[in-house]
Amino acid sequence: MIPTIEWKNGIVKMLDQTKLPIEVVYVDCKDYQTVAKGIKELWVRGAPAIGIAAAMGVALGAQRIKAKNFDAFYEELMPVCDHLAATRPTAVNLFWAIERMKNLVKNNSEEDIEMLKKMLIDEANRILEEDIKVNKAMGRYGAEFIRDGDTILTHCNAGALATGGYGTALGVIRAAWEQGKRIKVFADETRPVLQGARLTAWELMQDNIPVTLITDNMAGFFMKKGVIDMAIVGTDRTVANGDVANKIGTYSVAVLCREHNIPFYVAAPISTIDLSIPSGELIPIEERNPMEVTHIFGKTRIAPDNVTVANPAFDVTPARYITAIITERGAFRPRDIRKLGEKDVDLEKVRIK
Ligand code: MRU
Repeated sequence: MIPTIEWKNGIVKMLDQTKLPIEVVYVDCKDYQTVAKGIKELWVRGAPAIGIAAAMGVALGAQRIKAKNFDAFYEELMPVCDHLAATRPTAVNLFWAIERMKNLVKNNSEEDIEMLKKMLIDEANRILEEDIKVNKAMGRYGAEFIRDGDTILTHCNAGALATGGYGTALGVIRAAWEQGKRIKVFADETRPVLQGARLTAWELMQDNIPVTLITDNMAGFFMKKGVIDMAIVGTDRTVANGDVANKIGTYSVAVLCREHNIPFYVAAPISTIDLSIPSGELIPIEERNPMEVTHIFGKTRIAPDNVTVANPAFDVTPARYITAIITERGAFRPRDIRKLGEKDVDLEKVRIK
C-alpha cells in the first residue's frame, strides 16, 4: 500500500489523488497554506486522511513561527489552525485533529517553544499511526459480518487512500480477504469526482481483491438480481442519533439496500463520531464547484454552458437504514452509538456480536 501522506524531512509529502489512477504523483507541501490547498482541492481526501493532513499542516505552520514566548506562539498558531479549519466543512476529523493539536499546545504551556514545535510534529505522526491501528481493529470487528463468498457493494473510497493506511470500509473488506474469505467487491464509480472508479477500483486491484466497477445508477439493478450480499461504506461524520454523513449517493444505496433486504454497514472510527450534534439534518454539507458536475476533470464540458448546477458533496443516511456501525471498539446499533460517549457503560453488553 502506498502512503497517502507522510511527514518527511520537515515537509508534508502528499499523494495527489486527483491524478490517480493515471499517475502516482506526490506533492511536497512546504507550508501550511499548501496543505490547506491540498485538502480543499482533494489531493488528500477521506475523513481520516483529512484529519491527518490538518494535523501535519498545524505542525508545519508551527515550525515557521518566530515567537519566543508561549502567548505569542499560541497567538500566531491560531490563524494557521483557522486557515486549515476553513477547507472542508463536513468531515469532523478535520476539526477533531486541529483541536487535538491546539490542546497539546495549551496543555504544555511550560515547555519552551522549540520543544513545542517538536511535540506538534510527534503528535501529527501519532494521529497517523493511531489511525492505522484503529482501522485494523475495525477490520477485525467488521470482518465478522462478512461470509465466505459474499459480494460487497461499496461507495466512494474509504480505503488506505482515505486514511493513514488500511482503510475503514475497505479495511473491513481487506481484513475479510486476509482471513481467506473469497469475497468480491462491487465499487460504485461515485459521481461526480469518481472516487470509486479512480481510487477504490485501483486500490483493490493493487491488492488483488476482485473488484467490479459499476456506475452509481447500476446498484439497484445488481441488488434486484441478487448479486449483492451486503453494502459497507465509510463516514465523514456520525452523530448522536446514529445518522451518518457520507459521500453523496450513500443515502440512495442505503434505501436500495432496505428495499432489497440487504444489510447496510458503516465503518466509523471514533474520530468521525460527533456526539455534539443530535441529528443528521444539522451536519454541515459541503457544496462544491459546479465544474465537477459540468466538466470531466475541469476540461471537457459535458453539460450546457451556464446550466444551473447543484453539487452537494455529501448526504445523510438516517440511522434507521443502517444495520450496524462498526468502530474500533466494536459494532453497534446506530441508536447505541451515543453510548460511546457515556460514562459507566459496559460496551460489552451493547456491542453486536
Ligand atoms: O470528498 P471525499 O473524497 O473526501 O469523500 C470521502 C468519503 O465520503 C468517504 O467515504 C469518507 O470520508 C470516509 S473515508 C474512510
